[in-house]
Amino acid sequence: MNEESMGLALEMKGVRKSFPGTIAVDDVDFEVRPGEVHALVGENGAGKSTLMKMIAGSFDDYEGQIIVKGREVRLHTPTIAKKFGIGMIYQELSLARPISITENLLAGRLPRKGPFLDKRLAKRQARSLLEGVGLDLDPDLPIEDISQHEAQLVEIAKVLGNDPIILVMDEPTSALSREEVERLFAIIDQLRKRGIAIVYISHHLPEIFKIADRVTVMRDGKKIATKPIGEVTREEIVQMMVGRSVKEFYKRQERTIGEARLRVKGLSRFGFFHDVDFEARRGEILGICGLSGAGRTELARVLVGLDRADAGSIEVDGSPVRGSTMAEHLEQGIAYLTEDRKIEGLALRLAVDDNILSAIIDRLSSASVFSKSKGMQRVRALIGELSIYPPDPSRTVGNLSGGNQQKVLLAKWLASEPKVLILDEPTRGVDIGAKMTIHSSIEKLARQGCTVLLISSDLPELVGLTDRVMIMRKGHFTREMDYGECSEESLLLAANGDVGTGEGRAS
Ligand SMILES: Nc1ncnc2c1ncn2[C@@H]1O[C@H](COP(=O)(O)OP(=O)(O)OP(=O)(O)O)[C@@H](O)[C@H]1O
Ligand SMILES: [Mg+2]
Repeated sequence: MNEESMGLALEMKGVRKSFPGTIAVDDVDFEVRPGEVHALVGENGAGKSTLMKMIAGSFDDYEGQIIVKGREVRLHTPTIAKKFGIGMIYQELSLARPISITENLLAGRLPRKGPFLDKRLAKRQARSLLEGVGLDLDPDLPIEDISQHEAQLVEIAKVLGNDPIILVMDEPTSALSREEVERLFAIIDQLRKRGIAIVYISHHLPEIFKIADRVTVMRDGKKIATKPIGEVTREEIVQMMVGRSVKEFYKRQERTIGEARLRVKGLSRFGFFHDVDFEARRGEILGICGLSGAGRTELARVLVGLDRADAGSIEVDGSPVRGSTMAEHLEQGIAYLTEDRKIEGLALRLAVDDNILSAIIDRLSSASVFSKSKGMQRVRALIGELSIYPPDPSRTVGNLSGGNQQKVLLAKWLASEPKVLILDEPTRGVDIGAKMTIHSSIEKLARQGCTVLLISSDLPELVGLTDRVMIMRKGHFTREMDYGECSEESLLLAANGDVGTGEGRAS
């Protein structure tokens, strides 16, 4: 081994991994230094997660060399990878099991006293791991009771408990609010100071400029370049990612807005939001902006029938929306793209076509015109329109890259041709190109007369896409802004109650 390799935490040389029909990682060289935050970026499906799963021991059939701290290793199982100091925080969190935080944190190494579990010691160890990530939680709580953000930190604490040399984070911030992101960054900073090598995958380029020392860009399974962060611009990174220069925002087109379609009066869910009144019209894209905890997702859940309202009414095209389930609301024309595609959206084990048709399958089979081929036609059109990759309706959704799963979920709701479509963070975790595609689909839908409610923490997205934005603060609609009035700054100020700009992003 030469000196250069000795000084590195991780070196990958000429690594390759293919799946049937896809070369996911193609002859890639990649390295990380101790104490470095190395960002890994690329479009959806570029091979980022696969490259990292390779060092996490997910595959026993990769090709090429992996060198950890100067020593060549074969990382063929997760146990071996862990033993060599690889810690991985996965893109899809997998904590939702009915066990306690302690059991989760110390899985596989719970302390024993004779044949029994040493409960006190276990609790103490769990508490100290939680402290390491700034969490003050009771270790006896069941893991399913904590928030997603806390679950994320518990996962980090768990991985740190194994004393990793290399820590990989695959889109760790996609479910976090601005304040939570800041806290995570402070933790990353401490880890960096302790000499841990960090690989950080994200689609959010501003984050990368804030936290990374170097950045590696991947495209179509290949490495395009590795650069110190100070030597590249955002535009250059995007250009390397997509292989051409792109405009980041969809060009706005004129739309005609029709009569009122969705009427919400005095809607309340006690403890979450109160007396919400608004109207949204045909063809209108109405944004909803607020800080985390403002009540946006709660409002959406009531509108789509996932939760019950305590007071107030919802009307679509003049008829009151009745029923208390999502299916009933869908039948009356209200569809919902959830914030969390794993929980309420996708059947990961089913194929792309089954997922896309799942919301309309009843309607299709009861209609006399139904034929399988008609459904499939629609599926193919949507795969094309959203550039779902690979463009194969029979693929299992769970095997698609994260961003492509998000597109399948959107396709499912587009297929249901709703009167009102509520989108909660529709472009989280998708790359810049896919974001454009999704924006253009949303606009197209609005042009066809659909009313779109857009909940987003992406301020440029709200500003660029909506006709009007309602500001939600502490459970109330406090303000409304037209397209002309909206800017990232004005939204942020309004979401914060017009005081200060430093605290919190609208999320
Ligand atoms: N288990 C699998 N079976 C078949 N194909 C797979 C599997 N996992 C990944 N792929 C394919 O490998 C390619 C790379 O996927 P990968 O998940 O590494 O992308 P990514 O860069 O992480 O994308 P994203 O930003 O969307 O998460 C994609 O074409 C994907 O469809
Ligand atoms: Mg990925």
